[in-house]
Amino acid sequence: MNKILKKELLSPSVWLFEIEAPRIAKKAEPGQFLIIRTNEEGERLPLTIADFNREKGSVTIVFQEVGAGTSLLAQLNEGECILDVVAPLGKKTHIEKNMGTVVCIGGGIGVAPIHPIARGMHEAGNKVISIMGAKNKDILILEDEMRAVSDEVLITTDDGSYGIKGFVTTALQQIIDRGEKINEVVAIGPVVMMRSVVEATRPYNIKTVVSLNPIMVDGTGMCGGCRVKIGDEIKFACVDGPEFDGHLVDFAGLLSRQRMYKDKEKVESDHVCN
Ligand code: FES
Repeated sequence: MNKILKKELLSPSVWLFEIEAPRIAKKAEPGQFLIIRTNEEGERLPLTIADFNREKGSVTIVFQEVGAGTSLLAQLNEGECILDVVAPLGKKTHIEKNMGTVVCIGGGIGVAPIHPIARGMHEAGNKVISIMGAKNKDILILEDEMRAVSDEVLITTDDGSYGIKGFVTTALQQIIDRGEKINEVVAIGPVVMMRSVVEATRPYNIKTVVSLNPIMVDGTGMCGGCRVKIGDEIKFACVDGPEFDGHLVDFAGLLSRQRMYKDKEKVESDHVCN
C-alpha cells in the first residue's frame, strides 16, 4: 500500500499526487514510468513518473481524468492509500554532459513527464530550451517548475490566450528559423502532437526522441499489449521504451491501436462515473 502524501488540482481534471514509495524513489530516473492499481477492481494504469524525491521517499504522478481508471484514482484523498505501485519501469532517458542544446517539448499533460527530463538535461550542463503547449492559459501546468530548469521557455496556446498563438511546432519552427543549433529534441504529449514535432524536425535531421504511452497491461514485456512498430521492428514500449527515435515510429499504427480501445473505455467510464 502506498500512501498519498499530497493531492493537488493543477488544472480542471488534472491531478498531481505525491505518493509515498521510498524504494521506488531511490531508483527512479527521468523517463521511467510506473503502473498503479487503485484498488482490487481498478485497472492497471501506466503513468510516467513526473518527479521523485529520494530524501523524502516519494514519487509524483500527474494524470488527467479521462476514463474509468483515472476517475477511480482521482476519488482518493490525501492520507488514503493506493493498492499497489510497480516501478520504476522502462528505460531511463539518455542524459549526458555536452549534448549541446536540447529542446524539451511538453504538450498538455505531457509537461509533467518532460519536467524531470529538462531538469536532468539542465543539471548535466546542457542548454535547455523548453516549449510548453496547452489549449489555453487556464490549463497550462507547471510553468514555474519548467522555468526553474530551463534556459529559455516558450509557451504556446491554441487560442492565443497566453504566449505564442499556435502549437508547440510553431515555437519549434521559430527556434529553428532564428538559426539556433539544436542537438536534440525530446517531445512528450498527445500522439498527434509528437507526430507533428517529428515531421517538423525531419527535414532538418534533428534527433527527436518521443515517449510513447500505448495500451499496457503487465509492463514487463509479457503480454505484447504495448507493441509499437519502430522502423522495421516490433518493440514493446514497456521494456524497449517508452522513449524511441521519433523519426522511426509508426504513428499511424499507434493511433489506430489507440482507437481500438476507445469504445471499451467509454463503457467502463460510464459505469464508474454514473
Ligand atoms: Fe505487456 Fe508491454 S505492457 S508487453
